[in-house]
Amino acid sequence: MFGSFAYDNPTRLHFGEDSLNALAGELASCGPVVQLVYGGGSIRKNGIYDQVCAVLKAAGKTIVDDAGVMPNPTIDRVLEGVARAREAKADLLLAVGGGSCCDYAKAVAASVHLAEDPWDFYFERCRPVPADMPVLPVGCVVTMAGTGSEMNGTSVITNPAMRAKKNCKFGPRVFPKFAILNPAFTLTLPDWQMRAGIFDTFNHIGEAYFSGTDDSVSDYISEGLMRSVIHAGRVAVKNPQDYEARSNLMWAATWALNTLIGLGKAGDWNVHGMGRVLGAHTNATHGMTLSAVAMPYYRRVLPHGLARFRRYATAVWDVAPEGSDMDIALEGLARMEAWMREIGVVLSVRGIGVTEEPAELESLVSDMTAAVAGIRGGYLHLERADIEAILQESLAAE
Ligand code: NZQ
Ligand code: ZN
Repeated sequence: MFGSFAYDNPTRLHFGEDSLNALAGELASCGPVVQLVYGGGSIRKNGIYDQVCAVLKAAGKTIVDDAGVMPNPTIDRVLEGVARAREAKADLLLAVGGGSCCDYAKAVAASVHLAEDPWDFYFERCRPVPADMPVLPVGCVVTMAGTGSEMNGTSVITNPAMRAKKNCKFGPRVFPKFAILNPAFTLTLPDWQMRAGIFDTFNHIGEAYFSGTDDSVSDYISEGLMRSVIHAGRVAVKNPQDYEARSNLMWAATWALNTLIGLGKAGDWNVHGMGRVLGAHTNATHGMTLSAVAMPYYRRVLPHGLARFRRYATAVWDVAPEGSDMDIALEGLARMEAWMREIGVVLSVRGIGVTEEPAELESLVSDMTAAVAGIRGGYLHLERADIEAILQESLAAE
């Protein structure tokens, strides 16, 4: 392992069916005003809203409702949240939902005391959170497994006017202070979202794994995580109510992107780079924007990272180490594609609304090429011709 790093993850996790019991203890150290961040209403239907509010009320907190955070949250919505937090003098942002609510809460937390425009400051110019500026604490009650946002300092925000979706790594001060992970809370997720979350998790691991050539403990951890997601994903799509599978998916999602398996590695992140552009253009479900380009991307990269793809085939997909390295590596990708079909994720950009309309394709190619231009951690630096070929192959996929 050649990389150098410091490791600090300040998020405290509470995991399991009774984990909401820990919320009262977490609230004890925060002030009286809680901005309750949630999405389009699923938590009102499935009863999680009532459960959380009961704890907040018993703790004597004032609840400032911040409902309607959309999937792929927008910068305009973040600015509304900032205004609400300033007016209410919020002491805590409590996100109850998936990655969108959690990312939104982090963006608000880091912007409440910021004098500059948050989009320009954080998402365009990637400026660090000013050291002398207070940051509101964030807590998460997770209802959808996938992004890992509950234990990292990243926020992904969309700017529809600019047709841009960008991430900002805020760093440790904006990591959630605590996260509550009750797998039972994910059981009401629509199948489409569950499947997207499974692939999002899997790809977060891949983004760390398909990078570097040194012998690294991170890769062995990644292989174990991938095997668990493959198995639990299979079980969950057959029976979405299987608590054991859903609990493993939830735990794996957190570890896939809580910074651990990226330690000592540059990381790839080409699939996410392309996926974010697809998200900005289509507003599609995040995990599906990744699955739509993953296979053409990995097939294109394979010859440039053959040793790693061979290892992936044998260690993750149980391909017998017989035949040429190329044959073994290709069989690994074939098994990956078969699994993706089994768990029901889209394999073509058509599945997320992309058409062959020339102007739209041209604009996608340009934006994707620009989005991955700075990426150097993968096995192939993608040029415009690579992006064109990946999109064409994805359009042609069934
Ligand atoms: O809005 P509600 O009504 O809550 O419905 C949501 C939403 O429609 C629904 N849902 C969530 N939990 C549910 C539920 N429905 C029924 N029962 C439940 N228990 O699911 C839909 C999707 O939710 P969302 O939060 O958008 O999904 P996800 O967790 O995949 O988050 C996606 C966002 O996270 C970003 C993505 O780009 C996207 O904007 N990401 C954040 C990352 C990070 N912070 O590290 C990394 C990721 O790569 C990703 O980019
Ligand atoms: Zn992701």
